Amino acid sequence: MDSNVNHASAVTVNQQLFKQGAEARLFTGSFFGRKTIVKERFSKKYRHPELDERLTKERMRAELKGLMRCKNIGIWTPAVYFVGSKSNTVHMELLENVDTVNIYIGKLLMGCVDGSCDVQCTNKLKQLAEEVGITVGKMHLAGIIHGDLTTSNILIDTTNVENESTKPKLALIDFGLSHVDNSAEDKGVDLYVLERALTSTFSNIPWFFDIVLTSYRGTYTSGGEEVFKKLEEIRLRGRKRTMIG
Ligand SMILES: Nc1ncnc2c1ncn2[C@@H]1O[C@H](COP(=O)(O)OP(=O)(O)OP(=O)(O)O)[C@@H](O)[C@H]1O
Ligand SMILES: [Mg+2]
Repeated sequence: MDSNVNHASAVTVNQQLFKQGAEARLFTGSFFGRKTIVKERFSKKYRHPELDERLTKERMRAELKGLMRCKNIGIWTPAVYFVGSKSNTVHMELLENVDTVNIYIGKLLMGCVDGSCDVQCTNKLKQLAEEVGITVGKMHLAGIIHGDLTTSNILIDTTNVENESTKPKLALIDFGLSHVDNSAEDKGVDLYVLERALTSTFSNIPWFFDIVLTSYRGTYTSGGEEVFKKLEEIRLRGRKRTMIG
């Protein structure tokens, strides 16, 4: 893979694939001794080449802006080290000792008998739900729409996770569809995507998303209520679509 760099030893990309997404391939690598994730957006052959190039660049730009904007308001995101504009790559900090929230909830629930949580598991889930609500609330308060707010795009630091008194530390990633918009509609869609991601995988903890919403509302006091109204509308539209098929 062409990483678009002359001093090859300073910026490296391992050939072995780390993850394959719908629009991007992820590799590990290094940037002046720091471990990196290299996200390469590849072209979609079924798209017109010009449109494809435009969309790829737009998504890369959105990714960079989203990462920076969130970092600026104190949300944990990977630092961006280098951008390969010819190879459509973003070389970013590798966040170590993290799980996606999806995997993490699954692990917690696996330790529970009969799908019902014990006290410790419930407490951890409650803390996590609160922190998810705070993080998304902060982001929306700043007018940032994530655009793909699934549980795979929220990472949790697993280093100190055993300690009950430390709050879960969350990072947001995958900003390729992000933008800035202060309308309640797009924020409602973000919440709806998150709700669907949670309820489709973890139907046995329906209270989790309620806690997310309560802490979201507590963080985004100026606009949360309006977003909830939109969320309700979007849910209804979703249900109608499912009924029509
Ligand atoms: N900086 C990072 N540090 C650690 N892990 C990461 C990092 N970036 C991505 N990952 C891991 O790789 C997975 C995929 O990354 P990402 O969500 O950015 O790509 P994607 O979903 O394939 O992209 P897209 O939705 O743009 O096609 C994440 O769910 C996460 O597990
Ligand atoms: Mg993703």
